[in-house]
Amino acid sequence: MSELQLPIYDLGTPRPHDCSVQVKLEIDGQQVQVDAGTSVMRAAALLGISVPKLCATDSLDAFGSCRVCLVEIEGRRGMPASCTTIAEEGMVVSTQSGALKKLRKNVLELYISDHPLDCVTCPTNGDCELQDVAAELGVEDSRYGLQGLNHQHAAKDESNPYFTFDPSMCIVCYRCVRACDDIQGTFALTVDGRGFESKITAGQMESFMESECVSCGACVNSCPTAALEEKSVIEMGLPEKSTVTTCAYCGVGCSFNVETRGDEVVRMTPSKEGKANEGHACVKGRFAFGYTSHKDRITTPMIRDSIDEPWREVDWKQAIEFTARRFREIQAEYGRDSIGGITSSRCSNEETYLVQKLVRAGFGNNNVDTCARVCHSPTGYGLKTTLGESAGTQAFDSVAKADVVMLIGANPTEAHPVFASRLKRRLREGAQLIVVDPRKTELVDSPHIRAAHHLQLLPGSNVAFVNAMAHVIVTEGLEDETYIRERCEIQAWQDWSDFIRGEENSPEYLQAVTGIPAVELRAAARLYAKAANAAIYYGLGVTEHSQGSTTVMGIANLAMVTGNLGREGVGVNPLRGQNNVQGSCDMGSFPHELPGYRHISDPDVRGLFENEWKVKLQPEPGLRIPNMFDAAICGDFKGLYCQGEDIAQSDPNTHHVEAALKALECLVVQDIFLNETARFAHVFLPGSTFLEKNGTFTNAERRISRVRKVLPSKSGKEDWEITVDLANALGYPMKYTHPSEIMDEIARLTPTFSGVNYVKLDTLGSIQWPCNEAAPEGTPTMHVDEFVRGKGYFAITGFVPSSERSTRKYPLLLTTGRILSQYNVGAQTRRTKNTVWADQDLLEIHPVDAEDRGISSGDWVGIQSRAGDTVLRAVVTEKVQPGVVYTTFHFPLTGANIVTTENSDWATNCPEYKVTAVQATRVTQPSEWQKQQAVFNRQQKAFLDKARRPGV
Ligand code: SF4
Ligand code: SF4
Ligand code: SF4
Ligand code: FES
Repeated sequence: MSELQLPIYDLGTPRPHDCSVQVKLEIDGQQVQVDAGTSVMRAAALLGISVPKLCATDSLDAFGSCRVCLVEIEGRRGMPASCTTIAEEGMVVSTQSGALKKLRKNVLELYISDHPLDCVTCPTNGDCELQDVAAELGVEDSRYGLQGLNHQHAAKDESNPYFTFDPSMCIVCYRCVRACDDIQGTFALTVDGRGFESKITAGQMESFMESECVSCGACVNSCPTAALEEKSVIEMGLPEKSTVTTCAYCGVGCSFNVETRGDEVVRMTPSKEGKANEGHACVKGRFAFGYTSHKDRITTPMIRDSIDEPWREVDWKQAIEFTARRFREIQAEYGRDSIGGITSSRCSNEETYLVQKLVRAGFGNNNVDTCARVCHSPTGYGLKTTLGESAGTQAFDSVAKADVVMLIGANPTEAHPVFASRLKRRLREGAQLIVVDPRKTELVDSPHIRAAHHLQLLPGSNVAFVNAMAHVIVTEGLEDETYIRERCEIQAWQDWSDFIRGEENSPEYLQAVTGIPAVELRAAARLYAKAANAAIYYGLGVTEHSQGSTTVMGIANLAMVTGNLGREGVGVNPLRGQNNVQGSCDMGSFPHELPGYRHISDPDVRGLFENEWKVKLQPEPGLRIPNMFDAAICGDFKGLYCQGEDIAQSDPNTHHVEAALKALECLVVQDIFLNETARFAHVFLPGSTFLEKNGTFTNAERRISRVRKVLPSKSGKEDWEITVDLANALGYPMKYTHPSEIMDEIARLTPTFSGVNYVKLDTLGSIQWPCNEAAPEGTPTMHVDEFVRGKGYFAITGFVPSSERSTRKYPLLLTTGRILSQYNVGAQTRRTKNTVWADQDLLEIHPVDAEDRGISSGDWVGIQSRAGDTVLRAVVTEKVQPGVVYTTFHFPLTGANIVTTENSDWATNCPEYKVTAVQATRVTQPSEWQKQQAVFNRQQKAFLDKARRPGV
């Protein structure tokens, strides 16, 4: 491990929570001052004194089982364990006496007697804490013999695709059990037997795969020996180098050490320094990086004149020139506004910034949009209107101070797993939970957690729900009058208060709409309003509705009326989907906003950018994604530069999207795989994965973190370089030599980013914006003394039922969501071993609805809506209520969006994915659309093969 930056020194036990009081003590003749509550082991470690340890690690509370960390304390009898002994004022500790060494040696010999002594061939030789302690104590043999029978001959569990459990290596330190319980919160591991015979087991003596294990890897991180080990380390050997970067999956934004050997990634381990994850991870970020070297990667640019022709591989120069020529020809023929671009929420801030700059400055219009259009655009609109800033208000660690958490339309154990682990920890400490969801999600009832209320509302009734909550709060006098008077616009408050008091907003009146019993809703409203600290976390179940923006404003109203904004433990927190969806919005990816959410029509703001970019900008907002599709079908929009976004799979009403894509004369797809959209493309520009580029991502808590290049780009270019080349070819000069220069430009132009630069990011690790003169190290909590807009604004949130309702023809309401092992359109996770957990989308249907239709689990079921139909397998479950069906959208074969409609949020056009009226019937064959897709896919695959093997 020559170049490997060693992991941060393990201090043995965690830092105590309350650091307000200090104590002084002496250890081995040295004085040290530590926080009250610090263990003697940690105090010694802070002095650089290493006390041997096996069961202790600083990510877990001390357990005191191994007894190798014994110390002597003046005035105390015996030799206490330093990990469980708390440092006290005036204590005098000795860690290194002859008696201690003798005792520790004895303990270690007992361990060694039941542990294989084949260190030389062990995969973790050189990275094993047992080996280290043995070496430190000079133990090479055991007077108890070396043929222990308790563990040495136990069979390996190879069931998990990513790690093995080899019980022969296990020293029963319980670190894995505690990691699973305390850090992950899954409680999948137990100890069978007692004393020397005790053994670690998953579930009820099951294999890891059969158990409740969610493959987060926390147990593997914590194991001091090779008992739990990544298979990649066993196959490839220990890594030689480690680089800190940021996960490219979800909006939690976990920090990772990418550990490599040459040009190969051996493993990714969560960074303890990462403020978003503090050393934890989920199965995707931790293990599912195999797609980065998958054979499906396309690494050579390709062009073609028509989608009915095979691809032709070309070099970068030809591909860029072809694209620039086609775009200029289209603009010459159809006008300046006939082309546009889509920025990627998978790409970095710098890359999305450049694409919107290219569109505004190079294309000369504002036809730029991003996938946030179809997920959290209502968050931007709703929070900007009410609070003045389009982002979540808290840092993730704020949840540790919440007394009541209301989770609306979010399923974090599946979609934001590392945040879910934090939340579960707080709930186990006693915080109360209100789950508002049409489905019975895991947090409603899971080990050691039971929601105080599960408000199982009907899809489409979110606004009615938030209004009914507010009605209870206001009519029962539970509002925070002082907060409202000091912090909010009084006229707006009075208007809203009059509105919300109306009987039409009472839980009793709305019960028929929401499906929530009024008594239960009233109880939940009281719980939320009376909490010292109440926090709201919400997801796409809030935004992806025809009234998504209204619900977001209703949520902000709830927080304001109860005074739950502006400090830790409270707030309004959108759980963002993609790794950089916050960043892509911040970077000006919407057609009406320049970076920093400033309207394009503002001449002062435009002037700032015109001055820096040396170009005149259009004052009118450009086309949103759905407008681009409509305009393409009408023949007004002909060219699209699509950076890292699979609109053919992810956007609603697939028939409509495909018709739009087919109508384009030049579709440019920049991606790592030939995705569904690329089947309609004329130019394919091969992108780079997060391992192959430098840049930054911004997570759901506004945290900007570095992405660091670990491997050379397989295509020869990082994505920002492609955009630079295209801009130059179009005649709009861009000159950058490194993404840090792009960030410097962003900082010059964006007040909330003015203090951000790569040097500071490297120093601080990450920064939550706003970061400027007023907050040079960033802003963990927003709206502390006043709202960004000045006074908080209570928006009137009238409930308008969705036009998408169940009917005799379509009697069920389909809602969609995600699962833990797959991600979004699945382009990455489908190309990893995560498919062992899920290799297809399934339709959840309630037993009553299933019985009515003669459907059993495993049957093929056709779902039909007015937009289209598809076929997938059924799971009969009570997780959904009668009248509601549910599926995921990870697999193109299912194409769940063939059934979703073009209905969308009134303010932002965010699609109403969460409510589609459907019928479900038992069928025996794929839908017509699926059959046509199969033919089209075969044709496009042949076109690709021809490009890759021209002679064949
Ligand atoms: S598997 Fe590892 S972490 Fe778990 S008890 Fe055994 S040695 Fe300790
Ligand atoms: S991988 Fe995670 S969930 Fe599975 S046993 Fe280990 S800690 Fe528990
Ligand atoms: S929680 Fe999200 S960011 Fe963290 S490892 Fe999992 S996918 Fe990556
Ligand atoms: S490290 Fe203290 S008892 Fe194990």
